[in-house]
Amino acid sequence: MTFVPPDFPRIARRLRRGGLVADRVFDEVFPLAARGPSRVYWTPVEVAVRAAKLLADRPDSTILDIGAGVGKFCIVAAAAVDCEVWGIEHRPHLVEIARDAASKIGVKPTFRHGTLEEQDATLLDGIYMFNPFAENLCTVADRLDGTVELSEAKFWKDIHATEDLLSRARVGTRVVIYCGFGGNMPEGYGLVARERCAGSLELWVKHTEAPERGEVRESGIRPAASSLHWQVTSRTPGAPRPRARCSTSRRPADC
Ligand SMILES: C[S@@+](CC[C@H](N)C(=O)[O-])C[C@H]1O[C@@H](n2cnc3c(N)ncnc32)[C@H](O)[C@@H]1O
Repeated sequence: MTFVPPDFPRIARRLRRGGLVADRVFDEVFPLAARGPSRVYWTPVEVAVRAAKLLADRPDSTILDIGAGVGKFCIVAAAAVDCEVWGIEHRPHLVEIARDAASKIGVKPTFRHGTLEEQDATLLDGIYMFNPFAENLCTVADRLDGTVELSEAKFWKDIHATEDLLSRARVGTRVVIYCGFGGNMPEGYGLVARERCAGSLELWVKHTEAPERGEVRESGIRPAASSLHWQVTSRTPGAPRPRARCSTSRRPADC
């Protein structure tokens, strides 16, 4: 019997033409052990395509996924929109998986092993986050693995670093948040869109360096089943922090 390798580049061709790919099919590009966490930890293809379109409002934008995992968002975005995609991830073995998957699919996002503090915010046009730090607050059983430090102290350190990064970003920077990120958007950002796409997807745009307070009103977003999600996804710039709470679910759906 001859072994026929999966046609992974077909995935990129389909996404480039505006089509979608089932998550089960896409996830075959990852090693078996990395497919298990997909429903909870990796962005669904449909969401990644929508998020990428919200972020890349003009060609040649540079977008960064904070906490890139095995690269699912970055790979889908690199195929679906015409922009440069970077991913930063603190688990080196996930960076290796992401690079391997991107090369099999035939797209060229850049994955870097590292921390947020090293990132120059002024190089970015867009930032994507899928609740990257909530794992710090999960029970040991719900964590991806035990290879990195996870704690409430680390959670707050990462939240501060993210808020700092967002504050240093250029006016015009677009930020798409899937299922929250646990912090507050710094002043100067406005909520431009909130959609349901297998969960809550928010687009924020930095409109000014000089802070302006604006109310962000809930539009009936209902925290529901999903992946990692925050109980509070709606924030007014400058508002007090929500209490740290993490929730995980093994069910597909939304947050
Ligand atoms: C919920 S997963 C999202 C993965 C990917 N963005 C996606 O949407 O498919 C969050 C990822 O963030 C990574 N992460 C968490 N804290 C991080 C940090 N401080 N620096 C870099 N990566 C981090 C985790 O290792 C995990 O892979």
